[in-house]
Amino acid sequence: MENELSLALPSLWGDKDRPHTAREWEYARKPELIELYSSQVYGRTPEGGGVTGIEVMSRNGRALNGLATMTQLRITLSGPRKSKTAVLLLYTPNSATASSPAPVFVGLNFMGNHSTTSDPTIEVIPGFASAAGWETAAAERAAQARRWPVGIALERGYAVATMHCADLEEDGPGLAAGGVRGLFNSEAELASPTPDMWGAIGAWAWGLSRILDVLATIPEIDATAAIVHGHSRLGKTALWAAAQDPRFAAAISNNSGCVGASLFRHASGETISMITETFPHWFAKNLNAYADDLEALPVDQHHLLALIAPRPVHVSSATLDAHADPRGEFLSTVYASPVMELYGYHGTLPRDKAQAGSDVSWQTAVELPTPEPGSRVGERLSFHMREGVHDVLAEDWRHFADFADANVLS
Ligand code: GCU
Repeated sequence: MENELSLALPSLWGDKDRPHTAREWEYARKPELIELYSSQVYGRTPEGGGVTGIEVMSRNGRALNGLATMTQLRITLSGPRKSKTAVLLLYTPNSATASSPAPVFVGLNFMGNHSTTSDPTIEVIPGFASAAGWETAAAERAAQARRWPVGIALERGYAVATMHCADLEEDGPGLAAGGVRGLFNSEAELASPTPDMWGAIGAWAWGLSRILDVLATIPEIDATAAIVHGHSRLGKTALWAAAQDPRFAAAISNNSGCVGASLFRHASGETISMITETFPHWFAKNLNAYADDLEALPVDQHHLLALIAPRPVHVSSATLDAHADPRGEFLSTVYASPVMELYGYHGTLPRDKAQAGSDVSWQTAVELPTPEPGSRVGERLSFHMREGVHDVLAEDWRHFADFADANVLS
């Protein structure tokens, strides 16, 4: 048996002498980990700011052959420096009412709200985003729509809310001033950021929390049952959003990989050095230092999953997505499981190996095979593997809905 980790994982509990109880985790360890992620990884989310306007732009009560009501909302987001608007696309199942509101899937999209659907009534808003988002070729739009089979969720009683990530903040170095970070930080601050200043992932995560603020004002939506989800960089974002904002009832990471669900210390796929070089605007500058000194990084990504506990968490991977390291994503759920167990729930560590309050040893983890494609394994912290490449497809959405039915609705 060989250790498949390149370095020993930092303990879930930090200081080994502290009590490993749910109370200690909740009141001492969680804030400590949030501080570590804020200062070393994603950057600090500033206090303040919020939603200062909500305007209904359009509504179609017979969307998707009468299954849902589609609403487009123009939202004003404000920080201490200025305001900006962004558009939320919301589908509410027509079965939902104020006395029986719908749970909701909340996630950002990559190329504009219109790209998530073939519904021609979804506006392509001029000036909505200057990036390729709303001007991409039809084939690319169709590819995005494939990622949003919203009928699967709606037919099972869930609402679906989405916003273009670039409507919050464009995805590129040097573009922060025009986005969410520009609401809080001056151009000079953004041009020479402090080492713990937030990156684009922090800004998008802030936006997800503001979407939740908006959903909480809609009577047909049950904002206490909001499942935040995301694919790839937006999966990293969903996890960070849920870790910081306890109002998200559950989180789903799809193929989120490096600085998402996968373990840094499972040396496979993308590394800190690769990601900070290609996407320097996503994280706090402090993360760069760990590219050559991983041992010094006080967290690994089982901590991020554990921060969301006891709320349900689901991680999904794809067999051919080596860049996101599917084995490292699965292992991270295994190593995080003892925190779920502290609260009386189970993760992906089989029940006969459960060990609430202790770190899982590599000898235990190495013997757990990566789950075969097809079924969702684990309980309140669960995992599924899909056959195929880096993507999010109908098969994944069916697992998301199964996960939500089992853990959020029951
Ligand atoms: C790149 C990046 C990944 C990221 C992905 C995406 O491949 O290296 O970390 O998850 O883009 O967001 O699509």
